[in-house]
Amino acid sequence: MVYVNGRFVPPESALIPVTDRAFLFGDGVYEVIFGRAGRFAFWDLHMSRLARSSAEVEIPILQDSATWLSVARQLWNDAACTTGSLYLEVSRGVAPREHHFPEVVQPSTVAFVKPAAEPEPRIAQGVRAILLADQRWLRCDIKSVNLLPNVLAREQARRQGAREAILVRDDMLTEGAATNLFVVRRGELWTHPANHLVLPGITRHVVLEEARRLGLAIRLEPYARADLSQADEIFVTGTTSHLLPIAEIQGEWQAPGPGVVTSRLHDAYMTRLARELDVAPSVASSAG
Ligand code: PDD
Repeated sequence: MVYVNGRFVPPESALIPVTDRAFLFGDGVYEVIFGRAGRFAFWDLHMSRLARSSAEVEIPILQDSATWLSVARQLWNDAACTTGSLYLEVSRGVAPREHHFPEVVQPSTVAFVKPAAEPEPRIAQGVRAILLADQRWLRCDIKSVNLLPNVLAREQARRQGAREAILVRDDMLTEGAATNLFVVRRGELWTHPANHLVLPGITRHVVLEEARRLGLAIRLEPYARADLSQADEIFVTGTTSHLLPIAEIQGEWQAPGPGVVTSRLHDAYMTRLARELDVAPSVASSAG
């Protein structure tokens, strides 16, 4: 089932009018939340980010966290999967095509569950990445459905046999097309500061908390592309990819295997995720 504007309908009947502003302008915001057996990881953090994204672009969101949770529960009960991601989107709704906001905004709301593989408890072998110019706008902190540069970057990566495209703006590495980026150099953990140039990833946030708990030295600074050859370990983070080591970046950088710091953070994150999925709001515990 898919949730569309208050109704649960089969996917083939889950329709949005062509005059919806998400379709015409990419005028909407979204979230992707990892779940298992009807429990959702880092729910409150995702809800806060959704509220922030919508406030920044002035799309009113009528549902509160409890309403979303009840929608999520119903979708999960219906879905034939144990592990998956919950997708939520709110657009500025249906209106005649004018760029400026409609006089009366009635947001469109969509939610569905997509099956995902159970996260591997052991760290994966690294994946390949490519480098591409960051062609996005200057409000990458907003989780907007306007993802054309991200889509083009991921397609370039796929065509070159790589899993992720690492984006470069002004000679600095910002983030992946759909992940945040971390670099380890001489024991220090670098990641871009959470400003307008990157998405404040929930996985990034949790990994940084774990890094602090482990006493790692953290540098919230952009990492220069010119210093790539000096990086000891590189990994990316995201709700569906969790913590993924990078093995090779288009011949410019290579790692023999997942590094020590990456492995420690991977294990810490996985423990945290498992705990989170044990205590997070669940189908069973919040039924009724
Ligand atoms: N993408 N940066 C970008 C540009 C992203 O699109 C994402 C997530 C992340 C990681 O954020 P988080 O840890 O909160 O998932 C960073 C989602 C999963 C997507 O669009 O499918």
